[in-house]
Amino acid sequence: MIRSMVNCREFFPEGTTSTSSDWSLRYCVYVSGEHVELAKAELEAVCRLLIYDIDITWYGRLAVLDCTANPLGFILERAALVQEGGIVLGEAPSPDLLVDTISEEVFRQHVPGKKTFAIRPQALEGGLPRNERVGVETELGKHIQGLLGLEVSLDNPAALLRVFIHPKTTIICDSEPSVLRRLLRGREPGRKPFFHPSMMNATLSRVMCNLAGVSDGGTVLDPFCGGAGILCEAALLGARVVGVDSQWKMLVGARVNLSQVEADYLLVQGDARSCPVIACDALVTDPPYGRASSTRGLHSLDLITGLVRNLDSIVRQRGESTCICGSQKMGLSEVIREAGFTIGREIGIRVHSGLVREVVTVVL
Ligand SMILES: C[S@@+](CC[C@H](N)C(=O)[O-])C[C@H]1O[C@@H](n2cnc3c(N)ncnc32)[C@H](O)[C@@H]1O
Repeated sequence: MIRSMVNCREFFPEGTTSTSSDWSLRYCVYVSGEHVELAKAELEAVCRLLIYDIDITWYGRLAVLDCTANPLGFILERAALVQEGGIVLGEAPSPDLLVDTISEEVFRQHVPGKKTFAIRPQALEGGLPRNERVGVETELGKHIQGLLGLEVSLDNPAALLRVFIHPKTTIICDSEPSVLRRLLRGREPGRKPFFHPSMMNATLSRVMCNLAGVSDGGTVLDPFCGGAGILCEAALLGARVVGVDSQWKMLVGARVNLSQVEADYLLVQGDARSCPVIACDALVTDPPYGRASSTRGLHSLDLITGLVRNLDSIVRQRGESTCICGSQKMGLSEVIREAGFTIGREIGIRVHSGLVREVVTVVL
């Protein structure tokens, strides 16, 4: 028998808009160093969600974005592994040439009304030794003070100017830190009203939703939903969420957590191997592994094999719309390939010495 819980409140969050006046500008985004490959994949996936094309050039952990509208608001609100982003104010092949690219007009337009500033250099891929970075900071600081009459404030600057120094380029930008990263820390499983050790953490949940292209108003399924770590993040992105779990007590916990984020949800007790839900827009999940979650004596791989067999009917949206995370020992990718699907991304992330997780996207 299938038991279910439902809360069908209509939920139409506002879309993010971009300005069109910044058409000639470039933007830079600096991603976290924790899981660099995952962070890059997440940013690329988030950029694909925008309606306009973005060309991305990577300099180590720095992405320089060429596009016709300002994507920073959307990216900083959405991407869990982005640390900061800003408008490119000047760019030169090497740090000593940067001063010549700094124009008063560009600064006045994009750092308007600010009276104090600080410069924070950041070497990328061995861009410049530490002692030389201090020289760059001093020289640029003097130049900007003279040009714009701003005062240096190291403790509380109104404008934080970041200088990214890579062997191939040097870029100065007015940087804005990510607020989302702090919000995600406040949404970790231990801070939710219902907690279970098997729950997916908020940061990885958000990254996986981004990799699967979870969109505002779309339907997202987690067929091993547990306490709804993933579904809470999907709901906060504006998706309608559907959770399946074999254990009623986990669904009861999921309901508590989903209610807290005011999600539009449907929870169904069932077996992911014969998934009672079809035609979703995206699937984001982590099957049980390790001691934290129960498999009722079944092998995790069999659970995934059973689920993946029906993936075509469970997910209706074509493209990279499925993201699964498992222990690397499980061999997720092989199961997916054997079922005849194409892998989009296959990224290993080290959790601790005994556990390497694998995040895999499937192209339908
Ligand atoms: C790792 S936890 C899931 C965590 C969850 N995805 C989240 O975002 O917090 C795995 C869940 O799979 C459930 N489970 C185990 N066997 C299952 C099956 N055959 N069908 C559906 N759910 C199952 C367990 O009850 C457990 O809640």
